[in-house]
Amino acid sequence: MISKEQLDKDRLPRHVAIIMDGNGRWAKQKGNPRIFGHKNGVDAVRDTVEGAAELGIGFLTLYAFSTENWKRPRTEIDALMSLLVASIHKETKTLLDNNVRLRAIGDIDSLPKSVAQNLKGAIKKTEKNTGLNLILALSYSSRWEIVNAVKLLVEDLQKEKINSEDINASLFELYLNTAGIPDPELLIRTSGEYRISNYLLWQIAYSELYFTPTLWPDFRREHLYKAILDYQCRERRFGKISEQIAENINVNS
Ligand code: FPP
Repeated sequence: MISKEQLDKDRLPRHVAIIMDGNGRWAKQKGNPRIFGHKNGVDAVRDTVEGAAELGIGFLTLYAFSTENWKRPRTEIDALMSLLVASIHKETKTLLDNNVRLRAIGDIDSLPKSVAQNLKGAIKKTEKNTGLNLILALSYSSRWEIVNAVKLLVEDLQKEKINSEDINASLFELYLNTAGIPDPELLIRTSGEYRISNYLLWQIAYSELYFTPTLWPDFRREHLYKAILDYQCRERRFGKISEQIAENINVNS
């Protein structure tokens, strides 16, 4: 197992995004119902959040419920929603003790009232925290987010708050749920699937992708360290060539 001392503290990703996958398969392997996997997934969330906070990662975005997940059986959706409320309730104090700021992206108002209220309450309580930003993607999908951004932008155009000639990538980003949040340098997906599943499509344009066969309930901070170590061994060229990177030319110039 990798220890955090093996990581280069000066080259940590500022933002790590994770697609937590494999809860159902993990439960099935153990002869249990799918929700057993989700419940154990909460332990993985806790350990990963603690590990990320301890390392000094700025932003951790977790795909907790996608727009497409609404198509799952009602019983699983209800169980997941109850689990979310219970987890938010139980963990808010730990978030406060660890200076973690809770945030959310997605169509929050489409969530059941109790989930939306609990979530908004915890977001409010932790809003002054200055450590890790823990961002839950809930009822989230990139296509929803991008279409929503277009609607908001068109509204501002119609109200003449902006001009069409002002539209560029930087302006467009202000209309995304992630406005003000740096793009993830590292995207991790668990469970051995090689898909992005409608997650942060705009934001991961230059992210390093890391896939692990580990099922989400088995994921712990050491798996995060391993992914970060792998990331630190990669050369990020942003369309340039190795020699330019070696000469330390500003990636944005
Ligand atoms: C994917 O596994 C996981 C989810 C859709 C839900 C993730 C939720 C949690 C980890 C629990 C609560 C989260 C928080 C933030 C407190 P899957 O069900 O798609 O697994 P499968 O691919 O094996 O079927």
